[in-house]
Amino acid sequence: MTIIVSDDETTGEVPLRRIRFTINGQRKIAEVEPRLLLSHLIRRGLGLTGTHMGCDTTNCGACTVLVDGKAVKSCTMLAVQADGHEISTVEGLATASELHPLQEGFKDEHGLQCGFCTPGMMMAAKALLDSNPDPTEEDVRWALSGNLCRCTGYQNIVKSVLWAADKLRSQSAS
Ligand code: FES
Ligand code: FES
Repeated sequence: MTIIVSDDETTGEVPLRRIRFTINGQRKIAEVEPRLLLSHLIRRGLGLTGTHMGCDTTNCGACTVLVDGKAVKSCTMLAVQADGHEISTVEGLATASELHPLQEGFKDEHGLQCGFCTPGMMMAAKALLDSNPDPTEEDVRWALSGNLCRCTGYQNIVKSVLWAADKLRSQSAS
């Protein structure tokens, strides 16, 4: 399926670029304007609205996704830069039958209130836990330092990530 995403509301005459990428394990082809943000491709083009837009200026981290396993603020990257890369969004965390331990952790440790920052927090935390399965509290705080939350005061978010780290370690030990 080819997805055409344009930001040009007036003429539609901006030349489109064809890109190929993988998102949550599915291969996609899209025709996009060179100036289109990755966040807009994800939300408007693919309908994956779990990736939130808080500021559009690289401040809040609500739009964080993984690109080749690294946490990236998708409002800071152009869709054309995703060509040939692998993207993961919050929709890819759970399986059909099970929540990801990060999702369980945020639920059990009350790591969210309004939930607006939560997808970005989880994706930043996933990048951390994929590279460091046994993080300290300081490691978690550093990994989430680019993500803002207006509600929680961060304490329970940090506890949620540490809860998930424990669960992932016990899953891999068994
Ligand atoms: S929407 Fe991307 S950092 Fe805020
Ligand atoms: S839970 Fe509301 S912004 Fe974080």
